[in-house]
Amino acid sequence: MLCTIMAQKGLREFLDKKMEEADKIAPQDRLFLHDGGLYPILVCQPETLKMLDTFEARSDDVILVGYPKTGTNWVGQILVELASASGKYDEEERKQRQQKENELSIRPYLEFGDPGKFERMKTLPSRRIIKTHLIPQKIPKSIFQKKAKMLALFRNPKDTAVSYFHFAKGMKLVPDDQQTWEEFFPDFMSGKVPYCLYFDYIIEWNKYMDDKNIMFITYEELKENETLGLKKIAEFFGFSVTEQDIQSIVGKTSFKAMKEKSLETHGKMGESLFRKGIIGDWRNVFSESQNEEMDRKFEETVASTKLGVMLKYELYCKS
Ligand code: A3P
Repeated sequence: MLCTIMAQKGLREFLDKKMEEADKIAPQDRLFLHDGGLYPILVCQPETLKMLDTFEARSDDVILVGYPKTGTNWVGQILVELASASGKYDEEERKQRQQKENELSIRPYLEFGDPGKFERMKTLPSRRIIKTHLIPQKIPKSIFQKKAKMLALFRNPKDTAVSYFHFAKGMKLVPDDQQTWEEFFPDFMSGKVPYCLYFDYIIEWNKYMDDKNIMFITYEELKENETLGLKKIAEFFGFSVTEQDIQSIVGKTSFKAMKEKSLETHGKMGESLFRKGIIGDWRNVFSESQNEEMDRKFEETVASTKLGVMLKYELYCKS
């Protein structure tokens, strides 16, 4: 029990500290450019990005890749739960693992934190669960060399943009001239947001759709049938779980359950991270001209790609 409380406290304290630091960063300094991509100074350091390739993957690592705001905290938790059930960890072991990550300052995404983390990560027990927002060209090479399995998560661009706006504003991750939706939207459409242009992210990951070590999944697919999604994910990673485990994980990772616990798990940031958790919130936000612009951009860039088709744009972004 003590471990449980301390493990949650570690991440919560880290995130609360980040929220306080955010207030002190001048709006124009919130993003920095590295190797063609924009990164939030609040959680990323140029030195860490330069050292990414020193990360040593293991073949049994469980990697989650996803553009920001596509549900990476949700699916990350699903992976933690699946690994725990499969490894038959009791509550204490599970929390000890979390505690070790906190002690080693291994922050929730591979590209976050200090450069020394890659060395410290070597001491973590298998199977390590690692999240990242990086595009494939920036994913550490050893992940591909070791054939570590990756789950690639995607979400329709309209809901992603709306979620990104609320989060970036709430977290003070973006400059002052992106504080309204009207200001944020054109920057989302031209890629002036942390990481990269949404459409480039799709184009780049689309090149990997035939890679047997990568499983592609959408937020919408999981939302529509989480049980089925979990079964597919478990099979892909070789997690051995029972029907009962799956049902229990579906319950624990429901939006309601995660939101209710968010103050405890993620501190004040929980409010921005677990906002609405629905499909189609864009309808409350997009103007007619913004809809037209997004529809046109989607059509011109990714609509005809395999991954573009998988996003079911007609269903989730038009009807
Ligand atoms: P909204 O802002 O649309 O509500 P990320 O974790 O990558 O930052 O993504 C955040 C988005 O995932 C938020 O979307 C959040 O509400 C949603 N989300 C978080 N937990 C969820 C859950 N258990 N089920 C469904 N959506 C969830």
